[in-house]
Amino acid sequence: MRSYALLSLVASALTGKVLADCFSTKLGYPCCTSTTQVVYTDNDGNWGVENNDWCGLNSCWANALGYPCCTSTTQVVFTDNDGNWGVENNDWCGLTNNGQQVSKTTTTIKKTTTTTQKPQQTQNVVDCSGKTLKSNTNLTINGRKVIVKFPNGYKGDKAVPLLINYHPIMGSASQWEGGSQTAKAALNDGAIVAFMDGAQGPMGQAWNVGPCCTDADDVTYTRNFIKEITQKACVDPKRIYAAGFSMGGGMSNYAGCYLSDVIAAAAPSAFDLAKEIVDSGKCKPSRPFPILNFRGTSDNVVMYNGGLSQVVPGKPITFMGAKNNLKEWAKMNGCTGSPKSNTPGNNCEMYENCNGGVKVGLCTINGGGHSEGDGKMGWDFLKQFTL
Ligand SMILES: *[C@@H]1O[C@H](CO)[C@@H](O)[C@H](O)[C@H]1NC(C)=O
Repeated sequence: MRSYALLSLVASALTGKVLADCFSTKLGYPCCTSTTQVVYTDNDGNWGVENNDWCGLNSCWANALGYPCCTSTTQVVFTDNDGNWGVENNDWCGLTNNGQQVSKTTTTIKKTTTTTQKPQQTQNVVDCSGKTLKSNTNLTINGRKVIVKFPNGYKGDKAVPLLINYHPIMGSASQWEGGSQTAKAALNDGAIVAFMDGAQGPMGQAWNVGPCCTDADDVTYTRNFIKEITQKACVDPKRIYAAGFSMGGGMSNYAGCYLSDVIAAAAPSAFDLAKEIVDSGKCKPSRPFPILNFRGTSDNVVMYNGGLSQVVPGKPITFMGAKNNLKEWAKMNGCTGSPKSNTPGNNCEMYENCNGGVKVGLCTINGGGHSEGDGKMGWDFLKQFTL
């Protein structure tokens, strides 16, 4: 074996030359043909050993992530933040020419996330054939109406996200369908949006979020709707989200407790989890659940600081309060550290170190009343997450 000193001397004398099939041929060494093991690294690249001699390992950004460089294919199968990936010998390989370098210090962390994410993404191909529903319609699920709206230009040839939007108490799907900014942002961004009717309770159409406000099983109702819409329209089952205003915000918080296996994330407005549900240990998301709540400090319907509400006869409910609701979600998701301030917007706070890479946030609208908050911000939060 040659000494490292000699190697680097020869190597440095020749730097700056154009690299051919692998960097080492210009330096008088063959390219490695069978080994992929890096024995030595210098400015020229990664070196392996074959037949008792140094050989050049074709180096590219993917090596830092524990993957080989592509040697024959140029076909991009998958792209993520690291670069373009191809497949060779049944394994991922890095395609060059994307100009991206990954620093070696991040290797160990990145490697685990990369290996788990990529196979998921490639399997995430939804077969759209036979999904004939392509324009606005009203479905009947468990005897209730669900208004389904399709984005402009929807062709049904590729899977799109779905936003389920829950209406306020005493409202309805048709009352709320024109009112939600979150829904508008989602539709404008190519998502299908569903407005579901709540069931009748003592104070009109509402949702059952534990102690209040109807006796219906809205969890099963939502599951049944998801089952039907994913059969009929080309919805990506990994990108189904929940949002809602007022009691609809309550239902989308509650969805995190009971529907996190089918709903990827929620962006509720102007409500909290019921304290009764939290205190009795009934909120048990089956996976880390990303959630961003919007709350106004001057909300006189669902008080920012929480407390008992006896507005609905016979069904008292205690609101967690905005900050406690944030803390509770952070706790359930194993978030550590303090929330990042002014993220994703002014007066928002966001826990970014949580289990499963999820985020948990609260946007406080100073002086804000009982309102939806920033629907576009809500949608932009949701769409980062997949099941
Ligand atoms: C769905 O229901 C709404 C409200 O009741 C109605 O205005 C609309 O025309 C219906 N849409 C379809 C496609 O039937």
